Amino acid sequence: MAEAGANGDRNEALEPGRRKLKGLVLAGGKGSRLRPLTATGAKQLMPVANKPVLHYALEQLVAAGVEEIGIVTGDTADQVRASIEDGSAFGARVTYLPQSAPLGLAHAIITAREWLGDDHFCMFLGDNFLKGGITAHALQYMTGSACAQILLKQVENPSAFGVAMLDDGGRVTRLVEKPSDRISDLAVIGVYFFGPEVHSITPHLVPSARGELEITDAIQGLIDAGHAVGSSVIDDDWIDTGKKDDMLEANRLVLATLSRRIDGTVDADSRVIGAVVIEAGAIITRSSIRGPAIIGAGATVTDAYVGPFTAIGAGCELLSCEIEHSIILEQSKIRNVDRPIADSLIGREVVVDRSPVRPRAIRLMVGDHSVVDIG
Ligand code: TTP
Repeated sequence: MAEAGANGDRNEALEPGRRKLKGLVLAGGKGSRLRPLTATGAKQLMPVANKPVLHYALEQLVAAGVEEIGIVTGDTADQVRASIEDGSAFGARVTYLPQSAPLGLAHAIITAREWLGDDHFCMFLGDNFLKGGITAHALQYMTGSACAQILLKQVENPSAFGVAMLDDGGRVTRLVEKPSDRISDLAVIGVYFFGPEVHSITPHLVPSARGELEITDAIQGLIDAGHAVGSSVIDDDWIDTGKKDDMLEANRLVLATLSRRIDGTVDADSRVIGAVVIEAGAIITRSSIRGPAIIGAGATVTDAYVGPFTAIGAGCELLSCEIEHSIILEQSKIRNVDRPIADSLIGREVVVDRSPVRPRAIRLMVGDHSVVDIG
């Protein structure tokens, strides 16, 4: 059996003498479904349990033995770079690959062509969240002979997804975008494995009706050219965090796995129940926190209730309010709100406050594409 390289290259350790795998993480795109939060911020940096969703992708690639990672960036490249830097904090070596415009997932492969060389790679959509990681699937691909492999998830509403049809051996025979007939309930999710053969297909793709070079067309092109495309069906939860409720669900999944840790300060008049993380510098005063929940570094919670499945970002201020099943990004302030807040996603440096001025109307200054739901 081959030994791990002297540099500790876990790729070699994982697949003795076989395929080497790079990671290609997509962090460009438009993020239109999460506006206004993504009007200026990268959607891949939206926090799940106070950690950017993109970080989970990097961690899972590294856990699968992938250390060389290319990150495709768009308009938000500076934020992505600031968050990941050179990747060493993750145990990875990161190269940034600016994409000229968000022209599609297959266009991202064309953008990365030179960097990828003829290596095999795992393409991971930076806004996709997989609870169980990718290690078993990477091993299946790296030790197999298929020239591409896709991950599939059984879904109840296949007409909302790209779906795959398989033969008896699990090889993909056809991909269909948003099928009107129930031809398959296996949705294609945002993690793909490719060999160098894909580069013979991508230059010939033509833009779809939405003007993008589609990854489904690239995979179908491989199949049509007679290449074997394998599949693996995931049992674990998978979330495409493109919308508010998806973010809340990913948050719920991760918070449910937290262990209790209290590094901040909790006064004698407060109650902290269950799996709650209180980061250093956070101060809880005359409040109840019922887990699973996380309170970010330096946040203050005073005369407030924080209920299950809530992530409060660093530096937030909660005063005389109740909030549950919600995500609040850094440095926001919620004060003196007497109606409970639930199922909410609140951006950075937002202020929600009760005004002493009469009449007691609701006064809003809300950005473009915001949604305010007054119950
Ligand atoms: P999508 O969610 O398919 O596209 P989008 O970012 O434009 O999102 P929305 O529908 O909300 O407008 O993209 C999946 C991931 O791939 C996401 O992390 C963005 C990234 N991406 C690129 O890096 N380059 C691209 O050309 C496209 C289309 C997406």
